[in-house]
Amino acid sequence: MTGRFGRLLVTGGAGFIGSCFVRDILARRDGTRITVLDKLTYAGNQANLASVTQDAEQARRFEFVQGDIADAAVVAPLASAADAIVNFAAESHVDRSILDPEAFLRTGVIGVHVLLAACRREAEAAAAGRRPAAPRLLQVSTDEVYGSVDEGHASEDAPLRPRSPYSAAKAAGELLARSYHVTYGLDVVVTRGSNTFGPFHHPEKLIPLFITNALDDRELPLYGDGLQRRDWLYVGDHAGAVEHVLRNGVAGEVYNVPGNRELPNREVVRLLLEHLGKPWSLVRHVEDRPGHDRRYAMDGSKLAGLGWRNRTPFETGLTQTIDWFRANEPWWRAIRSGDWDAYYERQYASRLAHGVAAATVTRPESGASGAT
Ligand code: NAD
Ligand code: DAU
Repeated sequence: MTGRFGRLLVTGGAGFIGSCFVRDILARRDGTRITVLDKLTYAGNQANLASVTQDAEQARRFEFVQGDIADAAVVAPLASAADAIVNFAAESHVDRSILDPEAFLRTGVIGVHVLLAACRREAEAAAAGRRPAAPRLLQVSTDEVYGSVDEGHASEDAPLRPRSPYSAAKAAGELLARSYHVTYGLDVVVTRGSNTFGPFHHPEKLIPLFITNALDDRELPLYGDGLQRRDWLYVGDHAGAVEHVLRNGVAGEVYNVPGNRELPNREVVRLLLEHLGKPWSLVRHVEDRPGHDRRYAMDGSKLAGLGWRNRTPFETGLTQTIDWFRANEPWWRAIRSGDWDAYYERQYASRLAHGVAAATVTRPESGASGAT
């Protein structure tokens, strides 16, 4: 049953969460057709969509277009052929936004504007009877727009206080999207997801970086005291929640997508080393990320009220993720080649040279749980 949204344009669909969204929907074989528009930046990877392109039935309902969401000429015909646009496209790594912010603004602000302008033209076409209905745009945003939440859980009407170039660009993108709902009556919904993990996660991020480094017995660069807290959400649950909001969300509304599993980073690292059978002595405390948000935490009652429940507990997801990285070494070795070394050197060489072996600072007690 494809319902209202039989033809989807998924932007950023070759990345981590977007590719999961595409794989999961096409694997249901319900007739939905998906076009992915992806620039294939360093984070985009067509190998993430191999299960689709290697399956004849799914491949017939799938099209891949390499291009930039900030390019209006590319976006216009794709928007005109879509019932809905789901925008995952973004530069997504906070550390890279601190090194080089500009690409974050181009994709996160101008790119979103181009998608919205295309939707506006399509809404006008619908009003003139040239298409059956205006497209819906779902803007995938992040819990980082709330900034560091020292106490309690941010609900959707909490103030936005982004503190990195990444999160500031994400806040700008979603505010622009909501302004198009208010000003032009566009059908826009926004999701704010928490820290996502799982198979196909780019190895620049904490969990896959530490898994792949540990598999190679390399040092694990833990920023600052390692007591920053994140709320972990399995990728299949994030993708599922986005689809649930696409189909059921109210136009103009924002929905938090929490994982409901808040953990200090040190505890995440302890758990993954335990699963991998690797020693805590691999951990090095290194210079902190500038402006590092101490804690993210969201209230998920609005999404629960829409009928969504996460399915994958953190420990199950972590085991599946570690197993996947063990079984898919060629996938991550290919990413950790080429430009990877230059990035790693820039981000970590000095930090690791001046870091302190964590074993000499503190060692988390086995079995200690930082979960709330
Ligand atoms: P990712 O970096 O793995 O993938 C991003 C994808 O977007 C890549 O395929 C990349 O090639 C593509 N892209 C980048 N710029 C583009 C452009 N200008 N035009 C077309 N394609 C472009 O990111 P992810 O982790 O999958 O995150 C997806 C979305 O979810 C992002 O919007 C991110 O802000 C948001 N989000 C991520 C998390 C998380 O923990 N990963 C949590 C909450 C929200
Ligand atoms: O909260 C949602 C956000 O989660 C998304 O919007 C972002 O796209 C996504 O990248 C992620 O952002 P974080 O900055 O929280 O994720 P990252 O994996 O980079 O870092 C997680 C925590 O681990 C954070 O406190 C920083 C710390 N860290 C990270 C790296 C890469 C380290 O201690 N060492 C590291 O080398």
